[in-house]
Amino acid sequence: MVMAAFLCAIVGCVVLPIVALAAEISSGASHEQAWWGLSLPLLASMPSLEAGKAAMLLTALALIWICTMMIYWAAPGGNAWGRLPRPSSIPGPRGWPVIGCLMDMSGLAHVRLAELASACSARSLMAFSLGDTRVILTSVPDVAREILNSSAFADRPIKASARQLLFDRAIGFAPFGSHWRNLRRIAATHLFMPKRIAAHEHHRQHETTLMLNSIDDSMSLNGVVPLRMYLQRASLNNIMGSVFGRTYDFGRPCQEADKLQAMVREGFDLLGAVNWADHLSWFGGVFDLLRIKQRCDVLVADVKEFVQRIINEHKMQKSYEHKSDSDADFVDALLALDDSEKLSDADMIAVLWEMVFRGTDTTAILTEWILAEIILHPEVQVRLHAEIDSIATPAGELSERDLPKLPYLQAVIKEVLRMHPPGPLLSWARLAINDVHVAGHHVPAGTTAMVNMWAITHDSSIWAEPNVFKPERFLVGEGGQDIDIRGGDLRLAPFGAGRRVCPGRALGYATVQLWVARLLQRFSWSSHPDHPIDLSELLKLSCEMKYPLVACAMPRLCSDSQVVAGGKCLM
Ligand code: HEM
Repeated sequence: MVMAAFLCAIVGCVVLPIVALAAEISSGASHEQAWWGLSLPLLASMPSLEAGKAAMLLTALALIWICTMMIYWAAPGGNAWGRLPRPSSIPGPRGWPVIGCLMDMSGLAHVRLAELASACSARSLMAFSLGDTRVILTSVPDVAREILNSSAFADRPIKASARQLLFDRAIGFAPFGSHWRNLRRIAATHLFMPKRIAAHEHHRQHETTLMLNSIDDSMSLNGVVPLRMYLQRASLNNIMGSVFGRTYDFGRPCQEADKLQAMVREGFDLLGAVNWADHLSWFGGVFDLLRIKQRCDVLVADVKEFVQRIINEHKMQKSYEHKSDSDADFVDALLALDDSEKLSDADMIAVLWEMVFRGTDTTAILTEWILAEIILHPEVQVRLHAEIDSIATPAGELSERDLPKLPYLQAVIKEVLRMHPPGPLLSWARLAINDVHVAGHHVPAGTTAMVNMWAITHDSSIWAEPNVFKPERFLVGEGGQDIDIRGGDLRLAPFGAGRRVCPGRALGYATVQLWVARLLQRFSWSSHPDHPIDLSELLKLSCEMKYPLVACAMPRLCSDSQVVAGGKCLM
């Protein structure tokens, strides 16, 4: 009996309190709050206490700890909300004691959170806990606007992996302040200005032509096209060309290209993983099952070496002194900055790497979804072919200036962004800098805020038949609405909104439009009987197709003068 009580006490009073004590201390809790944990060594130093009495005392302490946890947990929103001095008025699920809703974040978190918000009648604003992290989430456009456009939410919570990978010095995770403002200004005036994006069109066109030729080759050789691979390669080359001024021939063995692809993949895995240690500070010290810390250390050393080498080459060649706008890459643009704006090499590495990282997956993932929906809707493909043919023959030149003349294409892209937003939870959350009111509720500083864009774009009170693919809903002439997707209308804001809206949206959108237009101009797309199209989702850093698209691409007719040896169209 005494033995059982003792064992129970050891588990309850030694393991749990030590773990929780570490959590409280490292999360900045006061020593008063952690009194019960500090009393352990005291108990241990009482040799005169009999084993039985010590076990009872420890059991009592464990019970007090468990009761405290249960009281925290009983609050709406769960344990992180229960720790507040004043109870919150925001409804929400309690989740599990200690871990809160952490389990709901694996798998399709956007779907699970939408279900929870409906179940708790908390679509406007829901409170929940991810371990010790207090979170609010909205699933309605008005409150999304309130959060995203508020200066109180101009900060972001940063994951340990993002900090380790230098992202706290880059735009996406830099804390709100002068460094972040300087980076945004540089991005807007030197990296993403429309003139600069237009000047790089020849580079995008060239990479698109190479992608189309590879697709043609794959079709001739294998009778099918594993589209994701070609999109990812084109996407990486596109961004590498704009950022570093170098591209790769992925068809040939090249160590540097392999290494770069592996580095990007590893970065996605590390940042996309739900790491419990980000929300339970003691967890990382005890379990690092995914070896995240160790893998980040290896990756960051590789990234520094890779990017620094390219910066050094640019410095030696002084290319930034004489290149024109259309030839200059991001490294040139950063090296040419005035002394007042200049970045250190360490900050340049962070900013440049973030561009490669952010710019690569989103465009490829979105294009893959678009092609999948087009193949599943042959009538949409027929109409797109007719629209594209009205401004260029299958072998004619299609420039980015032509894209605004393709309203149906724009409508198709918007409809895919609505049905499959690449960031269903807007990828990266926001953080309250100070106490603020949202939807009439008090939200304390330090609360993480999320927008469930997927729930908004699938809300039947906003979108008629939200699960039906209907590009016409965006065509004014056919009873639809012309919605601004750049952050002005929160019914469809796949690039976010407000101060931290995606700075690369114009570049990303221009790339996707050009790719889709030219993929359709050149080919007729259909599915292959052995590779049925499955629209299941997989949520990592972005939401991608769970089963990569494998399809057939039949070349459309091109004029005799455009045919080169081997029967290929020269475009
Ligand atoms: C289809 C393409 C893309 C989509 C759907 C997308 C989506 C997003 C979203 C939802 C955010 C968060 C916005 C917010 O918090 O309000 C974001 C931020 C960001 N995106 Fe994009 N993005 C795309 C392309 C790009 C490209 C091509 C780049 C750069 C080359 C880029 C760079 C960034 C950066 C640096 C941020 C952080 C901004 C900040 O915190 O100040 N994105 N993006």
